[in-house]
Amino acid sequence: MAATRSGGDATMPQPAQGHSLPDFGRHLKPEPCTLVIFGGSGDLAHRKLVPALYNLLLDGVLPPNYAVLGIGRKPLSDLDFRASSRDGVVKYSRQELAESKWGDFERRLFYLSGAIDDSTSYGKIRARLEKIEADLKLPGHRIFYLAIPSTSFATACEGLQRAGLTHPPDDTAPCSRVIVEKPIGHDLASARQINATIGSVFDESQIFRIDHYLGKETVQNLLVLRFANSIFEPIWNHKYIDHVQITVSEAEGVGTRATYYEGSGALRDMMQNHILQLLCLVAMEPPYSLDPDVVRNARIDVLRGLRPIAGKDVEHFTVRAQYSRGKVHGIEIPGYRREAGIHPDSTTETYAALKLFVENWRWAGVPFYLRTGKAMPKRASEIAVQFKDIPQILFNTNPAAPLAPNVLTLRIQPEEGLSLRIISKVPGSKARTNPVEMDFKYGDVFAAPSPEAYERLLLDVMAGDASLFMRRDAVEASWAWITDILEGWAQQSLRSLPEYQAGTWGPVEADRLIQNDGRTWRTL
Ligand code: BG6
Repeated sequence: MAATRSGGDATMPQPAQGHSLPDFGRHLKPEPCTLVIFGGSGDLAHRKLVPALYNLLLDGVLPPNYAVLGIGRKPLSDLDFRASSRDGVVKYSRQELAESKWGDFERRLFYLSGAIDDSTSYGKIRARLEKIEADLKLPGHRIFYLAIPSTSFATACEGLQRAGLTHPPDDTAPCSRVIVEKPIGHDLASARQINATIGSVFDESQIFRIDHYLGKETVQNLLVLRFANSIFEPIWNHKYIDHVQITVSEAEGVGTRATYYEGSGALRDMMQNHILQLLCLVAMEPPYSLDPDVVRNARIDVLRGLRPIAGKDVEHFTVRAQYSRGKVHGIEIPGYRREAGIHPDSTTETYAALKLFVENWRWAGVPFYLRTGKAMPKRASEIAVQFKDIPQILFNTNPAAPLAPNVLTLRIQPEEGLSLRIISKVPGSKARTNPVEMDFKYGDVFAAPSPEAYERLLLDVMAGDASLFMRRDAVEASWAWITDILEGWAQQSLRSLPEYQAGTWGPVEADRLIQNDGRTWRTL
């Protein structure tokens, strides 16, 4: 696809007030194309992908001409697919369905029923695509979204190739791109194998590996916060920072995803991808430009600088646990091993906490504490950067009551924003101090609600901008680091895991992990 250069911020909604942001990272304009969704009748398409496209339409940023072809096992007609898409938009869209816009959107939605492992499906896909593109006068740019388990990626890619639906990148010909969802494999070896198969069909520049956290508005804001403000960078290092905590807590239990989750667990499901990516953005060096590969190189350097956690260290630097019966938001949920579809002896972790170090000059000796879990008291994701204590003179002389440290908290969800805890004088004649929060909420300052991660990411694929996607080497670097921990856990051969009651903040073992260093987890 010969993408066209746009003037930087032409395609983005502007903030309601204040200085308009340069549209960092987006230099290319989305082109008319056909999006082919494998797993078209599945949950992701229904809840996220179709609503995301619809919101892009409402925001006026979709290319003027486009089509969507859903592929799935379910025997649906175009009309059925349109009806179910409408239902998905009504239930899950960020913006309400507008009848005036729905008609044109709907007539661009098509469905073809076919199985991925049926080799005859691909010829039918090709014929259907050619017909749709001829009818709508589309130029033939195609994006294949593999919203299917990674065990089927190879079959789908090879089927597409055999049917002549893929071709090498060529600026003068219509493009073919592929989007793959996480998880890519379940350890380093399987990730390498999957990457190799996709790579034998598509060039790396045509592969878009999604980590939807990178599409979240507040996650993108991390780069702006760090590198568009002069006050943070000078203190963003081991001289001033005591430690960093990254928390991604979820209130929901395993829900309806038992089969997937049993084979995955919190480390693979959240740490290997989303949380390590947050870490990369917090810890990376300033990239010298916003070119996708320059930014991605800076991110991967963090992964490469991680001190390995292997062998005996696994016991000292990691904690895993499962939720037991309890209440979240007043609703009783069973213990993990009593959930439908979960093995009663399961040792899959629903909670993981890690203490890690990034071994470079900037971060020497600064611990990063990461934790994530299901069935915790609430849904909340944040990064908290805690600064070092001030000297024990002037206002900090009483060792029994030390001053609270400065903490910069970046809230990713919900209530996106940031706050800075500072010490202030309590009004009155005495020199009494109190910590106060300087708080900024996105919602209060920018009138428009933030786009969903999938909106930004789909638009970027249409534009061929890979900045917010995972490159092969990054996926493999994070698997390499995580696989050491998985192997350490396998060697422990535990019959059962530590537990935390559903609706609490995790097991006592995790409290000890941080308390042994004289620190505590933050209360969110
Ligand atoms: C997914 C995980 O990648 O991210 C889920 O597979 C998890 O288990 C989800 O619930 C969390 O995403 P978000 O955007 O709701 O924080």
